[in-house]
Amino acid sequence: MSEAPHGAPIKTPGQLIAAVIAGFAVPIVIIILLAYYVDNTTRTGAGTDELSTQQVAARIAPIAQVSVHDANAPRVYKTGEQVYQAVCAACHASGAAGAPKFGNSGDWAPRISQGFDTLVKTALAGKGAMPPRGGTSPDDYSDYEISRAIVYMANHGGANFQDPPQPAPAAAQGASAAAGAAPASGADAAANAQAAAAAAAIAAIGKTASAAPAAGGAGQSADASQAGKALYQQVCQACHAAGVLGAPKFGNKDDWAPRLKDPMDKVYDYALHGKGQMPPKGGSSASDADVKAAVDYMVSAAK
Ligand code: HEC
Ligand code: HEC
Repeated sequence: MSEAPHGAPIKTPGQLIAAVIAGFAVPIVIIILLAYYVDNTTRTGAGTDELSTQQVAARIAPIAQVSVHDANAPRVYKTGEQVYQAVCAACHASGAAGAPKFGNSGDWAPRISQGFDTLVKTALAGKGAMPPRGGTSPDDYSDYEISRAIVYMANHGGANFQDPPQPAPAAAQGASAAAGAAPASGADAAANAQAAAAAAAIAAIGKTASAAPAAGGAGQSADASQAGKALYQQVCQACHAAGVLGAPKFGNKDDWAPRLKDPMDKVYDYALHGKGQMPPKGGSSASDADVKAAVDYMVSAAK
């Protein structure tokens, strides 16, 4: 009987060395392969970026999102350029669908000649392939912002329009407050809304009127026109910028022409002592001279 075990595979020192090396090498190769296997990014499950913050956020994102605006936050109006880039450029940059092309004065000249007010009306109402407001909703882009976009486009097409006056934010906010507080009398809803708008305008004026400059109060000085403009911006534009309650609109000849048939003294008198829905001095406590200066300012803009 031989001492050696039957059929032992390792018979020489050379075989022993080979066996030892293989004994180390094989597990190492297996470990390396396992490591690759675990790290495989195309697999799903733990250890892949399936659980990364981004991917998880994308998976659990709600289907519809509601963005909440703070109604009381002061509104930040977009510039004409921003509105143009976001909305109007879709058609007006390339002249798609026959839109007057941005920067092309040949396209714009005949449009500009219609006057700014007409352009605004057309852009708000739509015309041919031009959708109303460029397809936006009034909640996203106010009339004011659309008008600014028109100024931006038209001025790059050869016009020289002024930016429209910014709507008084206090008036709009007060309007909703006053609308809520307005007693529901027998009057119809429209009348109520009108009264609320007026109340709001007047409330807004109450806040600013005391700040109205007394400058120019002493006689007609060189800065009377400055004072008139300042008073207009602080008080009168609450109604006269947009034509609230039927106020003759600033810069609108048609609105003003019939009124300017009256002698100026009479027009001043209406402004000082009120007429119909127009409150005396626009509801402010400005001096007579300043109110007259504001009338002059409005009248000269409508000539
Ligand atoms: C879907 C395409 C489209 C978009 C978006 C668009 N427009 Fe237009 N726009 C047109 C077309 C088409 C016309 C030419 C309409 C015609 O004369 O029949 C036009 C014409 C106009 C005119 C000239 C109107 C006139 O009286 O001649 C103005 C101003 C205007 N667009 C303003 C805007 C403003 C401001 C915006 C962005 C808020 C806007 N557009 C977005 C297609 C568009
Ligand atoms: C609360 C809204 C409101 C405010 C604020 C306001 N107005 Fe008026 N205004 C009106 C209305 C409405 C009319 C039209 C009255 C009518 O014809 O019955 C009017 C008409 C006028 C007229 C024309 C009168 C005429 O028929 O000849 C003048 C001038 C005028 N306003 C000046 C001013 C001045 C100046 C201020 C600022 C100091 C001002 N308004 C502020 C609402 C307002």
